[in-house]
Amino acid sequence: MTSLFFLVFLFSSLLTQNVDANPNYIEALSKSLLFFQGQRSGPLPTDQQLSWRASSGLSDGSSANVDLTGGYYDAGDNVKFNFPMAFTTTMLSWSTLEYGGQMGPELQNARVSIRWATDYLLKCATATPGKLYVGVGDPNADHKCWERPEDMDTPRTVYSVSSSNPGSDVAAETAAALASASMVFKEVDSEYSLLLITTAKNVMQFAIQYRGNYSDSLSSSVCPFYCSYSGYKDELMWGAAWLLKATDDLNYKNFIESLGSGDQPDIFNWDSKYAGAYVLLSQRALLNKDINFEVYKQEAESFICKILPNTPSSSTSYTQGGMIYKLPHSNLQYVTAITFLLTTYAKYMKATQHTFYCGNSDIVVADTLISVSKRQVDYILGENPKKMSYMVGFGSSFPMRIHHRASSLPSKSLGCGGGFEYYETQNPNPNILTGAIVGGPDENDEYPDKRDDYMHSEPTTYINAAFVGPLAYFASGGSA
Ligand SMILES: *[C@@H]1O[C@H](CO)[C@@H](O)[C@H](O)[C@H]1NC(C)=O
Repeated sequence: MTSLFFLVFLFSSLLTQNVDANPNYIEALSKSLLFFQGQRSGPLPTDQQLSWRASSGLSDGSSANVDLTGGYYDAGDNVKFNFPMAFTTTMLSWSTLEYGGQMGPELQNARVSIRWATDYLLKCATATPGKLYVGVGDPNADHKCWERPEDMDTPRTVYSVSSSNPGSDVAAETAAALASASMVFKEVDSEYSLLLITTAKNVMQFAIQYRGNYSDSLSSSVCPFYCSYSGYKDELMWGAAWLLKATDDLNYKNFIESLGSGDQPDIFNWDSKYAGAYVLLSQRALLNKDINFEVYKQEAESFICKILPNTPSSSTSYTQGGMIYKLPHSNLQYVTAITFLLTTYAKYMKATQHTFYCGNSDIVVADTLISVSKRQVDYILGENPKKMSYMVGFGSSFPMRIHHRASSLPSKSLGCGGGFEYYETQNPNPNILTGAIVGGPDENDEYPDKRDDYMHSEPTTYINAAFVGPLAYFASGGSA
């Protein structure tokens, strides 16, 4: 008896130690994808697992006599903003293209999460010739209310761009989403894949032909929410890079070259795409040994040199707890997107035994990038000063009061303002939005877990989408 008890005790303490040493990446990967079910708009299928959500936005598009049901709410509100939704889709697709082979049973869930967005984006691109729909739901009216998507009574205004009010930013990002997804579905549904790439080409052509920032015509309907602050040139490069990858049509390469040199950012997110485009294009320099793409490899490495600590050109802060810290509002969006680029560039480096230097730094090897990535992933999953996971429903301590209408409200009609009574309480949210990663801690590694503190407590689809790739990498035993 005693020895059996001792063995059980020993075994369970070993398990605990193991959990402390490495978070359960497989569980985190699974939950990171489950989250997307909680953001669904439109009619929900019978296999919906987050069962506290129900169908919503069932007449979306009707004010323009088109069907624009489906897609995702971007964050804690009930608006469908296509600019970040398309970026989310591109990052989910990129995660799946790079790491799908390491996702095991989650590969199918990743495809489902992509298709939920692309079914909607296809409608937006094809419903009315000459128009690209770029969003549904009046964000200013929506933000005055606190009500579940299932109960919303605010105007479902439909927004679009066209040749007379162009939006090269949102159009090129939509093209990137459709093109990247066409590769995801190539082997599993060739008909759907063909529809995606055909539509992607048309939308990219529109983005190239009619130049403009969508914020200019849509102003307060997209700003300040998803204003295209960085302009559209980065999306043109990013969109064309995805079209080039999906089609191998060298016209896209010529087009990218015609754009000339881009900015040299130290950030990557739904607005600023240059870093992503550089890493994507450098794949051709590294894996295909195409010297025409050498310049993008240099740009990718100069980006990484700005991210890594202790290089001459490093411009990235790290908190005491080790988190990359870029900006106060939803900092984890930068952490997950940059982590994706580090892990992925490391993958290309490993495949080609490539190394580089940051000025007179120590040699940078793939594992230099992987260890920074792992630190970020582990931080988010609970290895941080607060010993708290920033993924809802993961680990023993996680955010309980996220800024999210559906998660924070009971399932009953409360009208526009009735929900504020719940918003203002200290009670935990009644509905667990499993897998949601919040905006995250501040520069002091502090996290107050307050519903009204949306800069830190709001989850978004693009924080999660970029995290799927690194999680799949570490889940399959990738190590530093
Ligand atoms: C688009 O926005 C960017 C960034 O604000 C600006 O630099 C550029 O001039 C704008 N382009 C047009 C055509 O308005």
